[in-house]
Amino acid sequence: MDNETLKAIRERRSCRQYKPQQITPEELRTVLEAGTWAATGKGLQDPWIVAVQDPTEVVKLVTMNATIMGTSDNPYYGAPTIVLVFASRPEQWKNGMADGSLVLGNMMLAAHSIGLASCWINREREMFDTPEGRELLQHYGLPDNLMGVGALALGYPAVPPREPKPRKKDYWRVI
Ligand SMILES: Cc1cc2nc3c(=O)[nH]c(=O)nc-3n(C[C@H](O)[C@H](O)[C@H](O)COP(=O)(O)O)c2cc1C
Repeated sequence: MDNETLKAIRERRSCRQYKPQQITPEELRTVLEAGTWAATGKGLQDPWIVAVQDPTEVVKLVTMNATIMGTSDNPYYGAPTIVLVFASRPEQWKNGMADGSLVLGNMMLAAHSIGLASCWINREREMFDTPEGRELLQHYGLPDNLMGVGALALGYPAVPPREPKPRKKDYWRVI
């Protein structure tokens, strides 16, 4: 069987080079709304989504992430929008990481479906466990004890998508 949804699932690729041009407010809203429709444990809608577009705020995230990574490169690959996802810590809610991951997955697919490029970027857990990270959470108007789940680099692709690896043999089985 095949349809538009299945095609989008197959054809979404991680993008590691972005045009500097910002995405439109409508495109951003479409992606963020798709995140809000992700399934969540107990239907609690535990995660929080923060889209960062202010260039000064973007630089803060780039610097924090690069410091943890130990690089001078931009870990968000120059994407003009960074979408952060936060959730409750495991001590407070066991499904925070799973809930937040599904939000990120929904947003990646939604982005692809409207012609945007994205890439899941790691290290938000460490970034927002620092005093600077906790201050930023407050600045975003969120409780400062949340856990960073991950982020999306989001924008218009500056390069064509690369060929995906074939799916591993025996990836799934039916018992
Ligand atoms: C949990 C997770 C963490 C990831 N972290 C990064 C990252 O920090 N930087 C990066 O460039 N890509 C990251 N990726 C993207 C993967 O490298 C990418 O999904 C994988 O190579 C498969 O490529 P595709 O998304 O184009 O199918 C991450 C993906 C996932 C699911």
